[in-house]
Amino acid sequence: MTQKLFLSLFSIFLFLNGYAKNREIMPLDKEWLFQKKDITEPIQIYTSWDTVNIPHDWAINGPFDLNQDMQFVQVIEDGDKEAKLRTGRTGALPATGMGQYRKELFLPVEKSTQRVYIEFDGVMSNAKIYLNGEYIGERPYGYSSFSFDLTDHFKFGKKNILDVTVENKPEMSRFYTGAGIYRPVRLICTSPIHVAHWGTFICTPEISTKKGSVSIKTNINAFTEKKGKIKLITEIYDPSGKCVSSVSSSKDIMSTLLFEQNCTVKKPALWDTEHPHLYTAVSKVYFNGEQTDIYKTTFGFRTIKFDKDKGFFLNEKATKIKGVCLHHDLGPLGAAVNLRATERQLEIMKEMGCNAIRTSHNPPSIELLELCDKMGLMVQVEAFDEWKNGKCVNGYNTLFDKWAEKDLTDLIRRDRNHPCVIMWSIGNELREQDQKEGGQIARFLSDIVHREDPTRPSTAGYNNHIGAIINGLADAVDLVGFNYKHYDYQTQHENHPEYILYGSETSSAVSSRGVYKFPVKDNWTPWYNDYQISSYDMDYVPWGSAPDTEFEKQDDNEFLLGEFVWTGFDYLGEPSPYGEGAPSRSSYFGIVDLAGLKKDRYYLYQSQWSNKPVLHVMPHWTWPDRLGQEVPIQCYTNYPEVELFVNGKSMGTKRKDKSQKFLRYRMRWDNIIYQPGEIKIIAKNEKGEPCEERIIKTAGNPDKIYLKADRDTLLANGKDLSFITVEIQDKEGNLCPRDASLLFVKVNGNGKLKALCNGDATDLIPFTSNYMRVFNGKMVIIVESKDKTGEINIEVSGERLKTSFYKLTCQQ
Ligand code: GAL
Repeated sequence: MTQKLFLSLFSIFLFLNGYAKNREIMPLDKEWLFQKKDITEPIQIYTSWDTVNIPHDWAINGPFDLNQDMQFVQVIEDGDKEAKLRTGRTGALPATGMGQYRKELFLPVEKSTQRVYIEFDGVMSNAKIYLNGEYIGERPYGYSSFSFDLTDHFKFGKKNILDVTVENKPEMSRFYTGAGIYRPVRLICTSPIHVAHWGTFICTPEISTKKGSVSIKTNINAFTEKKGKIKLITEIYDPSGKCVSSVSSSKDIMSTLLFEQNCTVKKPALWDTEHPHLYTAVSKVYFNGEQTDIYKTTFGFRTIKFDKDKGFFLNEKATKIKGVCLHHDLGPLGAAVNLRATERQLEIMKEMGCNAIRTSHNPPSIELLELCDKMGLMVQVEAFDEWKNGKCVNGYNTLFDKWAEKDLTDLIRRDRNHPCVIMWSIGNELREQDQKEGGQIARFLSDIVHREDPTRPSTAGYNNHIGAIINGLADAVDLVGFNYKHYDYQTQHENHPEYILYGSETSSAVSSRGVYKFPVKDNWTPWYNDYQISSYDMDYVPWGSAPDTEFEKQDDNEFLLGEFVWTGFDYLGEPSPYGEGAPSRSSYFGIVDLAGLKKDRYYLYQSQWSNKPVLHVMPHWTWPDRLGQEVPIQCYTNYPEVELFVNGKSMGTKRKDKSQKFLRYRMRWDNIIYQPGEIKIIAKNEKGEPCEERIIKTAGNPDKIYLKADRDTLLANGKDLSFITVEIQDKEGNLCPRDASLLFVKVNGNGKLKALCNGDATDLIPFTSNYMRVFNGKMVIIVESKDKTGEINIEVSGERLKTSFYKLTCQQ
């Protein structure tokens, strides 16, 4: 008998005996019906259904159209004195409108003694749920996770029709939201006596090298008339899977029960950013001796301390927060959450030396938190971008009064066991900062945080920091986040020595990958008529600063906890400074572009944040239009000394210079006259000995298409991804750094072309097209696996270029 057959007979046996040891978790990810429609009630007669998989974002296929989100609006945060025409603000994609999803559900008659729940991780937005035409419930905030008990409405042994209607109103966000059921959905079938939804809360109140104490609160639901005893055994498993502690308690049955248990673990392996050790608590529920549920919770042992003078401590070790803000969209994949795409973003950030993520400005996907737990990235989970006073006509302000308490409570209950979460943000740049009632709302939300999780601080990001101080918003939170107040940290620290301060949002430097503008200058009002921005990393928005400015403040002020840079990746929407009738539809703020390709700025952060040796030189060296003119050269490095050679001639050795604004964190050779050939930098150690070098040569004509995948082997699960970087190279293999060839992409075999992205914020070709121009010589092809094993063949062609072929393998 195969193991599979044995297991299914075993589960039938369990059901015949009236109990199930394990809850069944059924992902509802395949073959949903979907249609866009224009009424809010579910339509019973279906004419134009598409079949889609969940997670699904109906807007990401495009087409881009600047009319779609054109709006006349005053963005106070950007300094607008009056309403202006804005374009591309939410990505110029068709996210607005209504949609309906439908799925057939079936459970056999034998399960009619069980409880049935449906869980949604996030539906954008105004989701209404119906089962067999009957209204079940709704959840307006598109970022909230929620669950409904379907048991009393479910027809066991028959076909059930689940309908989900969605409505995205115009002007509901300042950035791209995505559209539809963009996060996973699952059906859960449990015994009547089971651990409730998000039913455990695990803390580690005392940790020493010898032992760690664990406090476990568990909520049990008991849907039974029978009398008897419920026993809960909680077992703790260490990172290697060994059971290292357990605790057992019993109570007389009641419909809901709260168990509070404590146990200790000897010599716990701590969770930190280098060694993110994870433990698992397994809750086993018994009723009158029969096991009725098993439920697992991942947690970790770590301490966090926030000191007003000494900054942040992780496990008693002083640790500066080197964080980035991330929006929830995955660039060309839209908002539809994908595990691998999220993991890739975090890998790229981690490699830069980043140790923390701020989920600006909304609850993240569960996938992101699970990955941060595993990879060792700390997280600030943020709840809201607005409270009662809207930034957008149909924004969260329309929901605040009715839903804020529930949305925030649910967020914390969902996420409070993750060791990666270190603080809860109750909001970003609230308009209430300059209003008297602001302090009261901040206290209301901060109290919810403390009630639901006494182990972590509340915080918020204040851009009108003086208003927030005067109106009591700053006093209401445990950690006072300043957005773009690098110039005022010291003064406010002196005026309010009790505040624990940090940069909740910093820099907002802007750049386009591979673009360099002349003359090179410190520029707080960047605007160029090709709608691109210089990568010399001295361009930033009027309220922002160059990365160097914030580094300086962080380095010179021990009291600051650290910073969250705006942003790690480019994102859809908010194309500042080109948001007013320009072709742009995505941001320029990213340290990494929308395709996931590194901009020069990446290496500036890496040189400051990581302890790996970093040596990076810019710009490229192909300037036929600048013969005999100045092309300044800059280097990002953490080596003490670097010598530059242009066509073999030394241009001098440089060290960083603390006394000057753009010399403390970078090395510069400003007066270099361009001649074709090569530039070479040699990094030297303290003794002046050469350690590493980089050479950039002037490129010849485009000749070939070079392809390199981040992973050559994919899982045959229909959702794994390979990101293939494309480079246009000359005959010698040099990148053609200004090339814009149009490429055509074919994918055959056991994978499909998921998206193309070149990182150019002005490109209005849909990501799901099979052709696209490279941007400054590069783009990324995203290939998705199918369910079958075998080869995936990729062919990329372009005029006057040799066609390239690439092979991926899809395996179990
Ligand atoms: C901040 C805001 C962010 C983003 C950023 C751009 O004011 O919190 O969401 O808009 O500016 O610089």
